[in-house]
Amino acid sequence: MSDQTITSVSREHRVFRPSAEFQRQANLGSYSAYKKLYAESVNAPEKFWTRQGKELLSWRKPFKQALRWKLPHAKWFVGGQLNVAENCLDRHLGTARENKAAIIFEGEPGDIRTLTYKQLHREVCRFANVLAKLEVSKGDRVAIYMPMVPEAAIAMLACARLGAIHTVIFGGFSSEAIKDRVNDCQAKVVITADGGWRRGKVVELKSNVDRAVAATPSVKSVVVLKRTGNPVTMTEGRDLWWHDLVAQVPAEHKARGFDSENPLFILYTSGSTGKPKGVLHTSAGYLLGTTITSKYVFDLKDTDVYFCTADIGWITGHSYVVYGPLANGATVLMYEGAPNQPGPDRFWEMIDRHGVTIFYTAPTAIRAFMRWGDDHVKKHSLRSLRLLGSVGEPINPEAWMWYHTLIGKKRCPIVDTWWQTETGAIMVSPLPGVTPTKPGSCTLPFFGVIPKVLDEAGKEVPRGSGGKLFLKSPWPSMLRTLWGDDERFKRQYWSELPGYYFAGDGARIDEDGYLWVVGRIDDVLNVSGHRIGTAEVESALVSHPSVAEAAVVGRPDELKGQALVVFVIVKTGIEATKELREELRSHVAKEIGSLARPDDVRFAAGLPKTRSGKIMRRILKEIAAGGEVKGDTTTLEDFSVVAALQAQEE
Ligand code: WT7
Repeated sequence: MSDQTITSVSREHRVFRPSAEFQRQANLGSYSAYKKLYAESVNAPEKFWTRQGKELLSWRKPFKQALRWKLPHAKWFVGGQLNVAENCLDRHLGTARENKAAIIFEGEPGDIRTLTYKQLHREVCRFANVLAKLEVSKGDRVAIYMPMVPEAAIAMLACARLGAIHTVIFGGFSSEAIKDRVNDCQAKVVITADGGWRRGKVVELKSNVDRAVAATPSVKSVVVLKRTGNPVTMTEGRDLWWHDLVAQVPAEHKARGFDSENPLFILYTSGSTGKPKGVLHTSAGYLLGTTITSKYVFDLKDTDVYFCTADIGWITGHSYVVYGPLANGATVLMYEGAPNQPGPDRFWEMIDRHGVTIFYTAPTAIRAFMRWGDDHVKKHSLRSLRLLGSVGEPINPEAWMWYHTLIGKKRCPIVDTWWQTETGAIMVSPLPGVTPTKPGSCTLPFFGVIPKVLDEAGKEVPRGSGGKLFLKSPWPSMLRTLWGDDERFKRQYWSELPGYYFAGDGARIDEDGYLWVVGRIDDVLNVSGHRIGTAEVESALVSHPSVAEAAVVGRPDELKGQALVVFVIVKTGIEATKELREELRSHVAKEIGSLARPDDVRFAAGLPKTRSGKIMRRILKEIAAGGEVKGDTTTLEDFSVVAALQAQEE
């Protein structure tokens, strides 16, 4: 895919239909039922969402109007009041779900803990009381920087219960990244742990928080969960142990209802320029979007054990580890550590141990499993599985077939779910009892979603041709704005084509109306399913004293989807050594987090630029991929730069 044109080359003809057996038990089991509901959802959206809102959520005060739409600002379920945590917990109490497992937790060292709905409810109430004592109330921001342990979900739900806004920061981010995010949203409290287990080692979360909080004046308290027993420094008057705090408060908490549009969380995500964007989601619409998609896409039943491998630091962890599944009263398996600890079959072992029925993971993980070898899979029965899911990037047909054959034993439908941090919930996906699947396609839109593939002029491209992916019309779980930057919200998502939401992806729609997403079209990379902004990595590089200029591009990578290749011009008098190369890799990891550690650092004397000074990334991409520089180079200021970069390759 070049910068100018989006060409889609994949042509996949295999089709897999849902089995009659799956269809019979599915929450939605026929194509005609889907067609009918979909038609209603796009032709009479207010009627459709009013009914779903009433049926799927429990309200403190009923809403008056499903949608108030003043492009690009939406208000959903206007006039209504509810409590998100009550919807995930309290409403299951006094029912048959009360004593079923809400969360089955497995730590990396092998410790297992189960929390029933009743127990989880008590823990959330307790922690809500703790936060209230720390003077957290409606609208206050709370940062959560924790390992994948039940307390992370408890902290999120406790915020929701108080009407406070959580911002979860992925545990792989560095102290710099914590500082930026906390300062951007002015969080009052940070919740962390003395560490988490990853690949047999302790991830030092608390010391990262210490470094960050030294430069975040808004933070009044730091709550520290004891997870590993790793020694930490506690700062008097600021740092408090989780276990001390919960011991001092009751396990009952009377919740109140909050407005449908009360902010629920901010989640930072990479954009093509500048600092990360604080995507803001609100209460009722987000909860409805995650609840209804969990019900129909994951076909959730009371008997399921559902395992989503995403970290709660990402939107997938918010929507499909915490809010969606719990609102449906499901049993969620939560795992702390790495997929290959102690061995490459950890997931398959856990699936058999807990009787997992639904498994949701990312293509990058699937490609890693493939590389580790089939034998690790074949040692386990995986008999309990009935449904598989994929998210985060396009799944290549080969990985799809492997997933289908080795993990699903050809009997489990695969739902390839396309969505984004900004969309809050799944937008395009097969419904497992409904949609015939094609390996590599996320197939058909979910209720209320109208995807359009358009060209530069905003015209619909012919079936089968590539273009930019847009969504027409608002949906309940859409982002409401970017925290503190509504102008950027309008510019980024709503100005590419007036009236349409711009997703930033390239796609095509085939002759059957199936959507094929081919990847990002802006300067955002997708590395192992994580969005990384090239601008962020570049600014991390130039913050190093030896670097004068830097450009970052992606190179196709079998395992990660894209690998990070950086081109660096050093300052005069600085020597481009092997040591400096390593130092720059570590520097980026320190500034952003190890997920952004460049795979390849290349020193250059100059970068290919247009006469107006814009870096021609297309050329750098071609060089990074080891290919010939093709296409138009007439706008290039100085071709010798390219020749020099290529000569270095040989
Ligand atoms: C971007 C969103 C949604 C949670 C995980 C990532 C890519 C996501 C798919 C899919 C093809 C996909 C897109 C999208 N993407 N799912 N099933 N097929 N591409 O959330 O970090 O907000 O990234 O991930 O490029 O725009 P995110």
